[in-house]
Amino acid sequence: MKREFYNLSLRERNSFHVEQRAERLVEFDSEADLREIFAHGVPERWMVLSGGNNILFTQDYRGLLLTPVARNIELLGEEAQGVLVRAEAGLEWDDLVAWAVEHDLWGLENLSLIPGKVGAAPVQNIGAYGAEAKDCLQEVACYLPEEGVVRTFTARECRFGYRESIFKQELKGRAIILHVTFRLSRTARPNIGYGDVQREVEARGGATLKNIREAICAIRRSKLPDTSLLGNAGSFFKNPVVERSKAEALKSKYPEMPTYPSAEGPERVKLAAGWLIDRAGMKGYREGRVGVHDRQALVLVNHGGATGSEVIALARKVQQQVKETFGVEIDTEVNIL
Ligand code: EPU
Repeated sequence: MKREFYNLSLRERNSFHVEQRAERLVEFDSEADLREIFAHGVPERWMVLSGGNNILFTQDYRGLLLTPVARNIELLGEEAQGVLVRAEAGLEWDDLVAWAVEHDLWGLENLSLIPGKVGAAPVQNIGAYGAEAKDCLQEVACYLPEEGVVRTFTARECRFGYRESIFKQELKGRAIILHVTFRLSRTARPNIGYGDVQREVEARGGATLKNIREAICAIRRSKLPDTSLLGNAGSFFKNPVVERSKAEALKSKYPEMPTYPSAEGPERVKLAAGWLIDRAGMKGYREGRVGVHDRQALVLVNHGGATGSEVIALARKVQQQVKETFGVEIDTEVNIL
């Protein structure tokens, strides 16, 4: 069943809580709803607004926003390599992780508490604590309004990268994700090598699924602000990937600077944008109603009543400061509209 709204405030539908309005927003439940919505053609301007956790509105949206609300989880079957689980796009991501942990299924636990919905997970290949959605994602089913068909993309066809996928490239503005299938494991596969995870897991008595989930939740709660209390969109910037020579030059000047291998190959190195912003002196910096979070410099926050343009102005300042200090460009991770 679909629900339709006109001239709707988006304040509670974006995690930055900026006050912008949408000309039209439809909550949809199924492919049939989408067929009905597009029965008279594809409007000039439309996009999917899922949980609104990775978006910054800087103006009212003149067009059609589509929000998925179906939230079933279905166990499709057991295979030698794992258990196939299909979740609908409107389910809260963390409800899926909680469900998997309760059912003793491994694979999603490191991605506990990431805000957002299941349908948004493949778009930017959400990741945290040494895991990414792509690691156990099997396929993604989408409705393509231009073609009027549902198409299923295998994980390989999704062309996942660090915070990247086909849904941010060729399929941007062309696909509406309906459901996502994951292959989870009944065999224990702890992945606790990242940062403080091992210590937090051991403090809870060892690497059980439940302990890993609790450890990840505790780490996230200690660093990342709760969007219901302080508007934000998680990491505002992506970690930059630079030439190895550039990373080495910086490392000789700042030996304590964290570096990570890049999936792009041995000649490229990933740096920590949070560290760069912090060391550029911007952590906790505040300008009127917006600021850089004081416990995680990658996160920009709305202290209350800020507009999208105020957030952008701060983001530009942070980028400039990092560029001047380290000669490194950092790109935004959040979609700016
Ligand atoms: N650091 C600082 N100061 C800061 C923030 C970080 O010195 O203010 C240092 C940390 O001490 C650490 C390094 O920078 O040595 C990396 O920090 P952290 O492990 O906290 O992770 P991150 O690279 O800042 C990424 C993801 C997060 C994810 C964490 C944990 C991106 C853009 N962000 O952050 O994802 O939760 O790793 O895996 O890749 C998100 O995408 O919204 C998000 C929160």
